[in-house]
Amino acid sequence: MPSNFQPPITSHPPSHIAFIMDGNGRWANRRGLPRSVGHQKGAEALRRVVEAGAEIGIPYMTFFGFSSENWSRPEQEITELMRLLRYYLRSETAELHKNNIRLRVIGDRQRFDEDIIALIENAEALTHDNKRMTVIIALNYGGRHDILQAAFQARHHENFDTFAQSFEANLMTRDVPEPDLLVRTSGEMRISNFLLWQCAYAEFYFCDTLWPDFDRATLEKAIEAYAGRERRFGGLKRHEGS
Ligand code: FPP
Repeated sequence: MPSNFQPPITSHPPSHIAFIMDGNGRWANRRGLPRSVGHQKGAEALRRVVEAGAEIGIPYMTFFGFSSENWSRPEQEITELMRLLRYYLRSETAELHKNNIRLRVIGDRQRFDEDIIALIENAEALTHDNKRMTVIIALNYGGRHDILQAAFQARHHENFDTFAQSFEANLMTRDVPEPDLLVRTSGEMRISNFLLWQCAYAEFYFCDTLWPDFDRATLEKAIEAYAGRERRFGGLKRHEGS
């Protein structure tokens, strides 16, 4: 057995984990640092968690990078988040590609500056055929908007079943399995307009860790908690049904 062998942490790891990366500002405040430093550390945590997810073998991970409500933050903070986004896309695209990881962005990207849109398009095109894992970053994303735009595009179907099929096919997460596990850091227990439709049967995991401190160990804790949950999808307990 190779010396770096790590046994699987659970026999039923989630296929898709979604993250609400919360607590960057508090992480910085507690250290007397500007909020921008918290966001920088948050971007480092994002990189770390993707790496850990790929090593553990999680096929899909989605991160709430910028919500449609985040535009209401002070201009200086928005500028800093955009700077970080540029930096992340520039520095991570090649690394993700090298590691056979696909990057997808969901949300209304048209509101971002043209150079950011180009960086997103370039990253998506370069990594399109990568198979090891898919990383989805939600940018200017809102769950209600996603539902509304999918329904709007499907509106011409008069038959309910074909409407439902078309609706699902128009969600921004089409071709992606629904999240099994939704993780939110920093002690907040809300879904905050994230993947509203897609999280219908997700297990929720809330932890006090602030996002910049999130790492492989805290990720493994979340996965272990998930493994201990009994998922019933509205049906009977397994031993009652079989
Ligand atoms: C919440 O912290 C976090 C965000 C506003 C979005 C997440 C942003 C990052 C992880 C930075 C890098 C992102 C990308 C996509 C490169 P908060 O500011 O709401 O924290 P607080 O609640 O403690 O104030």
